[in-house]
Amino acid sequence: MNVAFIGLGIMGSRMAANLLAGGFALTVHNRTRDKADALIAHGARWADTPREAVQGADVVITMLAHPEAVESAALGETGFLGAMASGAIWMDCSTVQPAFSRRMAAEAQRHGVKFLDAPVAGTKQPAQTGQLVFWVGGDAETVQACGPLFEKMGKQVNHVGEAGMGIAFKMVINHLLATSLLAFAEGLVLGESLGIGRDVLLDALIGSAVAPAYLAGKRGKIESGEYEADFPLRWMQKDLQMVAEAAYQTGAAMPLANSAKEAYQLAVRAGYGDDDMSAIYAFIKGNDDV
Ligand SMILES: NC(=O)c1ccc[n+]([C@@H]2O[C@H](COP(=O)([O-])OP(=O)(O)OC[C@H]3O[C@@H](n4cnc5c(N)ncnc54)[C@H](OP(=O)(O)O)[C@@H]3O)[C@@H](O)[C@H]2O)c1
Repeated sequence: MNVAFIGLGIMGSRMAANLLAGGFALTVHNRTRDKADALIAHGARWADTPREAVQGADVVITMLAHPEAVESAALGETGFLGAMASGAIWMDCSTVQPAFSRRMAAEAQRHGVKFLDAPVAGTKQPAQTGQLVFWVGGDAETVQACGPLFEKMGKQVNHVGEAGMGIAFKMVINHLLATSLLAFAEGLVLGESLGIGRDVLLDALIGSAVAPAYLAGKRGKIESGEYEADFPLRWMQKDLQMVAEAAYQTGAAMPLANSAKEAYQLAVRAGYGDDDMSAIYAFIKGNDDV
């Protein structure tokens, strides 16, 4: 199976590396070329444009920052969609928005291409070790055809429904992720302001019934104040923006998500956008060390 991989950031570079190690013939493209160097050194073929990347590809995987980047890669001046073979598959793993995914699915269909929205749960380390969880929208036959690819990149594939339903599920997950992290940061800051030591708070709260399990993986960053990004905070804010848009389209009321969205936006404006999402704690605390 020939695979084209477009988008080699924190997540995409690691997912592509697992496909390469798994024996797939891989062509790669990224806006910033040097992020492809390690993959090229291990046998991936470089393509200068998205359009060039998909020549001869059975499956095209995109793992890009946001809908604008996905749309530009697919339908822009050097976009790939018009160059894909009829019957080939486009799997979009980027976190986008359900309405956007459905529009991309329609565009794909117009070009004779099968489409899956396949966003992931899991961050840098699970991406590296092939332990991601996929939430997939699209037809069952296409999901099955991509089985060998999912197997190399992840540990679990959940077929939620038709196109747009994988990303719909991802909206729910990231809403919970963003709001629970913000609530935890506020809780820590409140406890500290009341004179409770941060170690005492972290020891008691992490692993307890009131804190989500993923927070254990953020403890080191909070303690050290070193927020090298596993999940850039600006993408958490972007995801909340899309949660709010999706909710507006359906009429769902999201008071928490909207208030969290603005807190993350203020953190981005204060200079924390490229840090890990857990830097929301430093922002809430009022740490000048950005
Ligand atoms: N990190 C996580 O833990 C995590 C977990 C689940 C889902 N996600 C989602 O996965 C996607 C990728 O995230 P990431 O963490 O890998 O982010 P990242 O490291 O910032 O990578 C973003 C990718 O998008 C490309 N890009 C950004 N803006 C672009 C534009 N205007 N035109 C063309 N390419 C553009 C970047 O190219 P350059 O290299 O040139 O900048 C890079 O390839 C996002 O949708 C994110 O929400 C992330």
